[in-house]
Amino acid sequence: MRARARILKKFHNLIVLLCCYVILLCIQVCVAQKNPKVKKAENMQDLFNTSSCIPKPYICPHPQIEFYLYTRRTQQKPEILNTLSNDSLYNSHFNRMNPTKLVIHGFGGGRNLSPSTDMRAAYFHNGAYNIIIVDYGSLAKEPCLQQMSWAPRFCAKCVAQFIRYLALHPRGIKADQIHIVGYSVGAHIAGVAANYLNPKIDGKLGRITGLDPSIVFYQRGNRSRDIDESDAHFVDILHTGAGILGQWGPNGHADFYINGGSSQPGCSSDTLFKTVACDHTKVTPYFIESIVTSKGFYAYPCPNLVSFLIGWCNPDDDEYVLMGEHVSQKARGIYYVRTNPDVPFAQGDPRKRRKDIY
Ligand SMILES: *[C@@H]1O[C@H](CO)[C@@H](O)[C@H](O)[C@H]1NC(C)=O
Ligand SMILES: *[C@@H]1O[C@H](CO)[C@@H](O)[C@H](O)[C@H]1NC(C)=O
Ligand SMILES: *[C@@H]1O[C@H](CO)[C@@H](O)[C@H](O)[C@H]1NC(C)=O
Repeated sequence: MRARARILKKFHNLIVLLCCYVILLCIQVCVAQKNPKVKKAENMQDLFNTSSCIPKPYICPHPQIEFYLYTRRTQQKPEILNTLSNDSLYNSHFNRMNPTKLVIHGFGGGRNLSPSTDMRAAYFHNGAYNIIIVDYGSLAKEPCLQQMSWAPRFCAKCVAQFIRYLALHPRGIKADQIHIVGYSVGAHIAGVAANYLNPKIDGKLGRITGLDPSIVFYQRGNRSRDIDESDAHFVDILHTGAGILGQWGPNGHADFYINGGSSQPGCSSDTLFKTVACDHTKVTPYFIESIVTSKGFYAYPCPNLVSFLIGWCNPDDDEYVLMGEHVSQKARGIYYVRTNPDVPFAQGDPRKRRKDIY
């Protein structure tokens, strides 16, 4: 009976959240109109005036889509890479022997904002990397992106151009050596950028990690226009706000539904907006912790979500995989994982606990 009550409660929560999502969208429009910091939409036409956020001309490279290189030695002094000049890479601290991460943020992000800052700190804690932050902060302000379904596509084009720059550069790398980490709409941009690449010239992206790909634009049925498993040798997706602000998926080779994938512990809040936004944004602290954790986020397959929610999965020991940065690239399919409500989120290896019991 208790298990049944828990399922009912979960479904009740889901339905309430879905209704509220609709309300939330309405509220967002109102807030966008009231908030003086956001460019005001005076009328319907303005909402679709695509020139109001991105200055013309719409050509890559674009001054508002910048590529900032951070290395362990230059953590405080990033270098801008300019696709029009091979010298800019020659003169930078880029080192092709180190792993390269291309980080694409979501709404309201930027190189000096969390999670870009925390993610860099985590990687550099581990070792030497080329971390390139795609900073399109001024374009990622709401409502710019929401109103222009082509803005992420434009951004993706410029990202693809940058990848080609690295592929052609004598001291650069092919796409195969690049790991893109995209958060929210950034995950979507990564998937679209992959579609602009030419395998003969650029290679194929090594890995894309999608952090709760945003629902705002897509789900229009054509997955090859979005992030999918054809976009890289390995595509792993972490879902935390699925169906609410994130996509339901599955989108990748391996999809991880964290705590069931749609609502996160520690996210209940007095306002619904905060709750839903928290579910969506909590994916980045999980991923960042996965870079440095010694415990690990161990995920496992389960026949379905309901079985997971009531604790009826019974995976074999060899079916467990690590989620996050250190994922096994052999992982395929849908996985579930539980976290703690607070830092540290990782619960460690459940197989060890099982052995301790017996
Ligand atoms: C679009 O926005 C730009 C800049 O705000 C403005 O100059 C232009 O008149 C607008 N165009 C239309 C059709 O509203
Ligand atoms: C950089 O060098 C490569 C190889 O010499 C060349 O193909 C490419 O066009 C150059 N890129 C720029 C921006 O000059
Ligand atoms: C989906 O998009 C791809 C690439 O844009 C296109 O080639 C394909 O025909 C589309 N499929 C459908 C069903 O629209």
